[in-house]
Amino acid sequence: MNYLLIAVLGYLIGSIPNGLLIGKKIYNVDLRHFGSKNIGATNAFRTLGLWPAFWVFFTDAAKGVIAVYVSDFFIGTPIALLTGGIAAIIGHNWSVFLRFTGGRGVATGLGVIAVLVPQITAIIFLIWAIIVYITRYVSLASIVSAVLVPIFMWLWGEKIEFLYFGILAALFVVGRHKPNIERLLKGTELKIKAGNMSVN
Ligand code: G3P
Repeated sequence: MNYLLIAVLGYLIGSIPNGLLIGKKIYNVDLRHFGSKNIGATNAFRTLGLWPAFWVFFTDAAKGVIAVYVSDFFIGTPIALLTGGIAAIIGHNWSVFLRFTGGRGVATGLGVIAVLVPQITAIIFLIWAIIVYITRYVSLASIVSAVLVPIFMWLWGEKIEFLYFGILAALFVVGRHKPNIERLLKGTELKIKAGNMSVN
């Protein structure tokens, strides 16, 4: 198995649109028509409620975890793990099953870094939760957290490859938050609260 195949495999795993599938198949709701119109856990929470959001988050994060473990199984070098991980984030954000649209890459990215750098992930998750608690803006918390990943990797003395991965992943995550950034600047970003279609 070579690196290209690892990338393709990671991309296909990342491409599975869990939010869309869970919303449509289980709750008969297409998340792309509600709230932020994103297919991620935040919009699932906003639109459907806690448990649907939990399952979207869990399955999206699992894509990142699985992509890294698959890469580890087949090749096992740090570069392979990073390739599989970044490919999963790209797949989630620009899914082949959704005509190259998709989510923001936060949960899938979290799954990837949870395997690669668990200590940093725990701290970042804590910071994310504090920002959400204080501001109620999940997007702001995600953007700050994504930027902090490479910074913490650098402070932690991680390998340079990890740092490059962190920068690239942060760019992909922050880039996909463009509509949120515009709304934050205009003061029209949606604050988080459980959805009124709540089914839990
Ligand atoms: O993880 C996505 C989150 O940062 C923003 O989601 O639905 O508010 O665009 P949303």
